[in-house]
Amino acid sequence: MKTIAFFDTKPYDKESFLKFKTDELNIRFFENKLNADTVSMAACCDGVCAFVNDSIDRKVIDELEKFGVGVVALRCAGYNNVDLKYANGKIKILRVPAYSPYAVAEHAMGLILTLNRKLHRAYIRTRDHNFSLEGLTGFDLKDKTVGIIGTGKIGIVFADICKGFGMNIIGYDPYANPDFPGKYTDLDELLQKSDIISLHCPLTKSNSHLINEETIAKMKKGIYIINTSRGRLVDTESLIDGIKSGTVGAAGLDVYEEETALFFEDYSEEIVRDDKLSTLISMPNVIVTSHQAFLTREALDSIAKTTVKNFEDYFDGKDSENEIVVNS
Ligand code: NAI
Repeated sequence: MKTIAFFDTKPYDKESFLKFKTDELNIRFFENKLNADTVSMAACCDGVCAFVNDSIDRKVIDELEKFGVGVVALRCAGYNNVDLKYANGKIKILRVPAYSPYAVAEHAMGLILTLNRKLHRAYIRTRDHNFSLEGLTGFDLKDKTVGIIGTGKIGIVFADICKGFGMNIIGYDPYANPDFPGKYTDLDELLQKSDIISLHCPLTKSNSHLINEETIAKMKKGIYIINTSRGRLVDTESLIDGIKSGTVGAAGLDVYEEETALFFEDYSEEIVRDDKLSTLISMPNVIVTSHQAFLTREALDSIAKTTVKNFEDYFDGKDSENEIVVNS
């Protein structure tokens, strides 16, 4: 029997993992996020299960190695929260490369439809018996140009959804995908031609703050920016300036660069001391969701199934195609 320290547990995680776990795995569910202060909870465990806002940095890796933990299985696709180079040779890092690209792509379209047709505002109005349509005018998506940055699994599903709406689809990706139903351009052309830009690339060292003052200046006036990928792809200050100047017409953000300390928790009874986030939330043309794009039943089940398999493969000494290998 192997024991897993499961960090940042939410009730929906427990439900799906208890459904798929085998008798060989004993899972200890912790609500805390994994970081240097909480890593001691993994002492006496054989493996760790971590999520997007857990931090697998040098200190955490050193401690896990000391405890004899040989594997961290991420129950997500992105791995920007892991010091991969430092982990190399010390701890195996496994992930769930794909679980439901539909979940994320559909959420991105949900943000566009809500922002464009002002559904978030209409919902509040009619609850207050205010049936005025003033200020609720949207635009047809048909024939508008959507620019997709990152045309991997999620970007392709999102492109297919946009195709269903009759949109012109353009994309930017250093690696062309034969399944992409649109036309590839360079980044500058995409920035200049798009009415809506949706981010579907991973966060890497070289694309941090890809959306910044300079790139926003190249966009059409009224551009919609949708980010369901990783918060640090967007420089929040430049985004706020862009919205204030009117260049950015709307922003749909499922991720936020400083989300780690806030997202997945209930702070409704407290004063949140993050002025940038408060400014964004106060804007009528911004919707912030707290990293929920993945959250469908199908995705949760698929994440649990693959993660349990990742642990099984590791403990059985099998190579796994889901191991993240560092190219040094
Ligand atoms: P994927 O690996 O299938 O596709 C990523 C694509 O981005 C690849 O085609 C790659 O060539 C491209 N790319 C890499 N660097 C780029 C750059 N600088 N500019 C443009 N394209 C670039 O990944 P997948 O499954 O489509 O996921 C994409 C991202 O979505 C993940 O990395 C993760 O950050 C995010 N995500 C967010 C979730 C949420 O709940 N909000 C859930 C799952 C993933």
